[in-house]
Order: sequence, then C-alpha cells, then structure tokens
Amino acid sequence: MALKTKITELFGIEHPIVGGTMMHLALADYTAAVSEAGGLGVLASANYKDMGEFRAALQAVKAKTKKPFAVNLNFFPALNQIDNNLYLDVMIDEGVPIVESSGHKAPEEVVGRIKAAGMKWMHKCVGVRYAKKAAGLGADVVTVVGYENGGATGTLDITTLCLVPRVVDSLGVPVIGGGGVADGRGLAALLALGAEGVIMGTRLLLAEETPLHPEIKQALCEADELSTKLVLRKLQNTHRVLDNETSRKVVEMEERDAPFEEILPLIAGMVTKEKFAAATDGGLLACGQGIGLCKEIQPMAEIIADIVAEAERTMARLRGIFPN
Ligand SMILES: Cc1cc2nc3c(=O)[nH]c(=O)nc-3n(C[C@H](O)[C@H](O)[C@H](O)COP(=O)(O)O)c2cc1C
Repeated sequence: MALKTKITELFGIEHPIVGGTMMHLALADYTAAVSEAGGLGVLASANYKDMGEFRAALQAVKAKTKKPFAVNLNFFPALNQIDNNLYLDVMIDEGVPIVESSGHKAPEEVVGRIKAAGMKWMHKCVGVRYAKKAAGLGADVVTVVGYENGGATGTLDITTLCLVPRVVDSLGVPVIGGGGVADGRGLAALLALGAEGVIMGTRLLLAEETPLHPEIKQALCEADELSTKLVLRKLQNTHRVLDNETSRKVVEMEERDAPFEEILPLIAGMVTKEKFAAATDGGLLACGQGIGLCKEIQPMAEIIADIVAEAERTMARLRGIFPN
C-alpha cells in the first residue's frame, strides 16, 4: 500500500518522504538513493564550488535514477558565498524539476527565475512568519522543521509538535514537516498533524549510501536522544550537532567568548568535510534528537521501506482505537 498525499501527487513520488539536503553528504549517490527508494532526494548545490562539477553531479543523479529529485539552494550566510543564479543557470539547463531553498531569509531574488523556468519551489524554514512569507512569495510547498532537528535550528526554538499544526493552519499550500522524524511513527504523527509529507536528515545519516565514515555511523548507532548539542548561537547561526569532542570544544570556546578566528578552524567547511570521511569523532556533525531512534546502518531503500511499513502499521493501530 502506498501513502498518497498532496506531496506525492505534486512531486510525482511514491512516498511522502523528503531526504533532507546535507552539506558535504547530499551528493549524487545520496540524492539518487532517496529518489530511487521512492522519496525525494535533495542534492546540496553548496557542495560544489565549480559549476562544471555541479553539472556533473546533476548528470550523475540522472544517470542513477529516472525518478524526480530536487536541488537545494543555500541562503545561509557563508564565508565564500556563490551567487545562487550560477547554480540556477545549470539547473535550468539540466531540467531539474524541483528547487528547495533554505537559509536565514526567503530567496526573493531568484523566485521569478524559478517560476519562469516552470520548476516547483519549496522553501524550508523554522517559524510561522517565515512560512507565511515564503507562501506569499509563491512557494508551492513550505517545509518547516522544529527545534529537535539536526542542522540549523534558527532562534525561535519551536518544537515540531507545536510548529507543524500552526503552520498547517496558517497557510494555504501543502506543508512538509520535520525535526525528530526518524521512523514510521513520526511519519504517521506528522500526517496526523496535517503535514502532507516529512523531511528527514538524521535517520538518513545511517544509510549505506551516505558518505560518512562507517565508524562515525557506528558511533551514531550508539548515540541517544541526549547526544546532541546546540552550537554557534552567539554567532547567530545556531546548529544542533552531535555531542562529541569537537562540539564540546566549540561550546567551551563560545562560553568564554573566544574570538571567531579561534573557533573558525573547528567549524570550517573543508575541515568538516575531511572529518566526515575519516575515522574521527566526525567533527561538527549536524545531528537531531531523533538519533535516539536510529540503531542500524541500512541501505537507503530498506530505511524508506521500513518507515513506510511502520507508518502503515501505526495508522492501522490507531484505526483500532476507534473501531466504529
Ligand atoms: C549532517 C546534516 C547536514 C545538514 N545540512 C543542511 C544544509 O546544508 N542545508 C539545509 O538546509 N539543511 C541541512 N540539514 C537539515 C536537513 O536537511 C533536514 O532539514 C533535517 O535534518 C531534518 O531534521 P532531522 O535531522 O531531525 O531529521 C542537515 C542535516 C544534517 C543531519
């Protein structure tokens, strides 16, 4: 049985599950694996500083799956910011069907181009007012993630359980919810809250296709819901990350107001990328509280199938509570 929602219809996908974009990890293999499993994979454009490499990544996804996929445009502050119009040029040329934007602001400057190219646009944010702004700009779908999510949490600190129904009630467009969704019970719960689909990042860290070193994945299997920390709040860039040696050092530096130049080597993109590929503590690794529900390294297709099957069992159990 398949779960049919406005999102599966709009995007032409089998399951209402978006595989969250992930810096350094949402490359071609990851993206194609999510889409091939029936969800929607989201390639992170910011992984590519060279447009030739970016184009090659899009072509690699298309070679691995004929199913729909999306590309994320990053509107977070970055040290070496690349003009998102350059990515859009390549995306339009390669016929990317769906664009996701995320960041500290709505991408007003590129909405016109996305719409003119006939792409579907979803915007990811962390609060009702940001969601309304994106819908007002013409977003086809708005994604909201609660405070328990892995990665950027913003400053509003609203939990998924409170945020998703508020946004559903406030918008006229389909809503995808996330933050702490790591199994089929979470998927069923968010559908019950009115979301048309879910986004997951943390659970997919344990997919075989995600390019994290196996020893880091093993450490994640042993982590629980207490194993995350918030970092970079004083830099206005709060992220939920795995509690490890690197994040503990960053917290210690922030607590004593260390200068940015001292923190930078621990958070710089290149350092993080190298640590993801090596048997280290993983560096600053975004990770949500849902990690407590993630116990096994599995192929992506198995993860998605397990989640859908568990959501269906959960809904059947709930139907049993109301037998008439
Ligand atoms: C390792 C990692 C890296 C991430 N990188 C990004 C990113 O670059 N841009 C972005 O918009 N979201 C990023 N996210 C957030 C995910 O796309 C997704 O919204 C989030 O993981 C969902 O919450 P969950 O972790 O509780 O499942 C990242 C998440 C993780 C776990």
